[in-house]
Amino acid sequence: MISQRHIPVLLNEVVDALALRDGGRYLDGTFGAGGYTTAMLDRAQCQVIAIDRDPDAIAAGRALAERYAPRLRLIEGRFGDMADLLSGEEVDGVTLDLGVSSMQFDQAERGFSFRNSGPLDMRMEKNGPSAADLVNKTEEAELADIFWRYGEERKSRRVAHAIVERRREKHIETTGELAEIVRRAVGPSARDESDPATRAFQALRIAVNDELGELERGLAAAESVLAPGGRLAVVSFHSLEDRAVKEFVRARSGRTPSPSRHAPPRGEERAATLRDLSRKPVVPSEEEVSANPRSRSARLRVAEKLATEPKGGRA
Ligand SMILES: C[S@@+](CC[C@H](N)C(=O)[O-])C[C@H]1O[C@@H](n2cnc3c(N)ncnc32)[C@H](O)[C@@H]1O
Repeated sequence: MISQRHIPVLLNEVVDALALRDGGRYLDGTFGAGGYTTAMLDRAQCQVIAIDRDPDAIAAGRALAERYAPRLRLIEGRFGDMADLLSGEEVDGVTLDLGVSSMQFDQAERGFSFRNSGPLDMRMEKNGPSAADLVNKTEEAELADIFWRYGEERKSRRVAHAIVERRREKHIETTGELAEIVRRAVGPSARDESDPATRAFQALRIAVNDELGELERGLAAAESVLAPGGRLAVVSFHSLEDRAVKEFVRARSGRTPSPSRHAPPRGEERAATLRDLSRKPVVPSEEEVSANPRSRSARLRVAEKLATEPKGGRA
């Protein structure tokens, strides 16, 4: 199966949001096909440190690293670990473009898609428990919880039950098989046109890669590695991610809703560390959505690190 080149989403908006400058150092936490990284390196005489947890993405980026040497450094790892990976270096901007790339999605053997059936894998890192492990071994109630929480699937119990019934007969091995089980369990829905397998696959992918846990760690780490004035630009693709980013920026910019009269008094207030630069998320234009339908659910949120950090800024 030939994989399509990944088309970067909200590219100009992200690069503008980072307010790049010559001599600056920036972190691209989701290198992917290097679309953002390349645009950043072309926009300013800056350095980019690019991280990806997928060894294939890093291997494919070697040529780019050579082309932009010594301004581009590639690191295989998780953005949740960016503070350790940077070993104390500060950066002037961090960007995260969440989810999977077209290369990952379109390669049937990576198991992210049910349109091209492949092994039930979904591991961005290519190690650890796979989607097949989860689907074939997880207890029914826990499976239902995954579909409910990460896929917002209203018929989560029915889906989990159908999976457990099927796996009693045979090990569930392919994405096509799983999609069929889910479709039969959920049944046709007049209200919602989307394929129910989409929600189930989103849920499993989030669980296999601990995507929401990584996002939480990544946001906190980004806040700690940003130099004062540095920008954080995050592109998310579904409501769970967007909510996490919105709430993080809100909390860190001192805009947490005031506690109710009935709530116990709050402990120590946290001083604001970020300025929220996009109370409304930036969304793709109609032109972008028609040229690249995968951009349709993208949301960009931007924040700026304040200069009040106790550590103090870079000299
Ligand atoms: C949507 S793609 C990024 C595309 C990139 N912006 C471009 O323009 O080519 C997301 C990439 O992030 C990587 N990724 C997802 N979660 C990650 C994490 N927690 N740490 C590091 N990389 C991650 C995936 O492996 C994938 O390659």
